Amino acid sequence: MRRRKTAVAAACCLALLLGTLLNVLFVPGSELPPPPPPPRDGAPPSPPGAPLEPPEEEGGGGRAALARQLRERYEEVLRYRQPRAAGVRRAVRPRERRLMDLAPARTSAEQQQQPRGRAAAERGRASAELGLEPPPLGCRELRAAGGVQYLGSGYTKAVYKAVLNRSLAVALKAVDFGGHDVARCVRQFAALADCYRLAAYKIVKEMVLLQRLRHANVLQLYGYCYQDSNDIPDTLTAITELGSPLEMIQLLQTSWEDRFRICLSLVRLLHYLAHSPLGSVTLLDFRPRQFVIVDGELKVTDLDDASIEESSCTSNSDCFMEFPARNFTLPCSIEGRCQNMNEKRNLYNAYRFFFTYLLPHSAPPSLRPLLDKIVNATGELHWGIDETAAQLERVLNLYKSGEYLQNTTRISKSEYRRVPEAFIPDENYRCWPSYHHKGCLLSVFDVNEAIEICDSYSQCKAFVLTNQTTWTGRQLVFFKAASNHIMPDPDKITYVKVTD
Ligand SMILES: Nc1ncnc2c1ncn2[C@@H]1O[C@H](COP(=O)(O)OP(=O)(O)OP(=O)(O)O)[C@@H](O)[C@H]1O
Ligand SMILES: *[C@@H]1O[C@H](CO)[C@@H](O)[C@H](O)[C@H]1NC(C)=O
Ligand SMILES: *[C@@H]1O[C@H](CO)[C@@H](O)[C@H](O)[C@H]1NC(C)=O
Ligand SMILES: *[C@@H]1O[C@H](CO)[C@@H](O)[C@H](O)[C@H]1NC(C)=O
Ligand SMILES: *[C@@H]1O[C@H](CO)[C@@H](O)[C@H](O)[C@H]1NC(C)=O
Ligand SMILES: *[C@@H]1O[C@H](CO)[C@@H](O)[C@H](O)[C@H]1NC(C)=O
Repeated sequence: MRRRKTAVAAACCLALLLGTLLNVLFVPGSELPPPPPPPRDGAPPSPPGAPLEPPEEEGGGGRAALARQLRERYEEVLRYRQPRAAGVRRAVRPRERRLMDLAPARTSAEQQQQPRGRAAAERGRASAELGLEPPPLGCRELRAAGGVQYLGSGYTKAVYKAVLNRSLAVALKAVDFGGHDVARCVRQFAALADCYRLAAYKIVKEMVLLQRLRHANVLQLYGYCYQDSNDIPDTLTAITELGSPLEMIQLLQTSWEDRFRICLSLVRLLHYLAHSPLGSVTLLDFRPRQFVIVDGELKVTDLDDASIEESSCTSNSDCFMEFPARNFTLPCSIEGRCQNMNEKRNLYNAYRFFFTYLLPHSAPPSLRPLLDKIVNATGELHWGIDETAAQLERVLNLYKSGEYLQNTTRISKSEYRRVPEAFIPDENYRCWPSYHHKGCLLSVFDVNEAIEICDSYSQCKAFVLTNQTTWTGRQLVFFKAASNHIMPDPDKITYVKVTD
């Protein structure tokens, strides 16, 4: 574990990062964002190979440029914790002021001169003050971690799976030394320690956002650890909830019900982000790899490209959003802000990366018109997130309540004989999309829907109601090609087709 940590982490300065974190995590409330930078386009800004910042000239101004980037990162993190209270700025406590003043100017060399004892004390205080819920996991748990396994990496971070406390499987995020971010920075500035710091700010930012944006569809932050590695002091590891990667190809092969769940969790997430305690949050990098699946729900994991800045404007043409297949111009408000730009950027990305693939296909036919309308309205940006969320919740209700079946004529072609407490172990046939890879296992609202399905499959000669349900509460049913061998089972009910 220790060796690995050394591999993924590097030299850097603790007190600064820690101080930042302390400040950020303990100040309640937030304020409206500072004056925004020039509008950014709607497309994800971090395509493969994207630089940290616009390229700088080599040599002379290099160190100054790096210092400026560090300062910008630092200030960005600070923004997420400032109080909102209508124009009333909370007075900065003396200790914070000191940290804030010192932070951008400090170099790693200065850091090393700091007595180690003080750094350790600050670290201890941070853990003590950090009232994370559930109780914070930290260095102690991390040192006892088992089963460490590499999961993946992006430009900045390497992510590992580990089992803490012998029971809790978590994700560990650390700066990836072999990653583009650090490698590129080192090539340019030849300053590993400061390059580490620059990259570590992304983890700090992500941790602060995970902490402030609490929602069922935001990954949970369990804790973090600053620790010294062999010759490397104070590297940061974030400890979060574990998920599994969102594989689009795999999702396309699952049931509509499960794909709808992904879209619904995404919409609930975007609804929360549009009304978050930090203001309207936009995810500038919206590729599916920024999300993971936890128990069938989508959760956002990568928040280092989140932003709360709303573009300022003098005319509508300043509110231009460019996407590969479509451009939009949003209205510029009287206050000089591009109206709902963050929300709309999220929505269009949700449309182009998720809804268009996941929502309509193999949906129950009676829900198709409503789903097509949702896809169209988001693809045209006709609706805001409130309306979109309300419409998806409506679909959920129609589906869960069985109302979506009411307008279909339900006259069975065949008759079925009910055999209670019985099941058919074999005689499987395959169907798509099935919850079971060998047999045909589908969810139904009630026995009538099962009959309807069996009627419509020529192979179907019987079906078995199980006592298992899906996330919407629908019952799982095995459809069978024959009924030659029926076995007793107290939890199941078999229906056998008697006429054709
Ligand atoms: N909590 C998690 N559980 C499981 N896998 C995760 C988790 N967080 C991240 N991953 C995986 O690790 C990969 C890298 O993580 P992450 O996206 O945070 O790093 P990054 O350097 O910011 O990447 P990018 O450059 O794409 O933004 C992700 O693509 C994802 O598949
Ligand atoms: C670790 O596990 C032990 C026993 O299994 C438990 O008492 C303790 O609370 C756990 N610690 C954390 C931080 O979850
Ligand atoms: C979007 O705008 C860009 C820049 O003005 C232009 O080059 C591109 O053709 C536009 N794309 C579409 C689909 O209209
Ligand atoms: C929405 O529907 C209109 C009218 O049918 C169509 O012209 C348009 O292309 C659709 N837009 C999307 C994004 O599907
Ligand atoms: C069923 O039909 C009624 C009356 O025509 C209509 O109001 C309702 O929206 C329909 N429901 C569905 C799910 O299509
Ligand atoms: C289904 O039946 C099994 C076997 O008896 C039982 O263990 C399980 O609790 C039941 N599940 C539900 C959801 O009722």
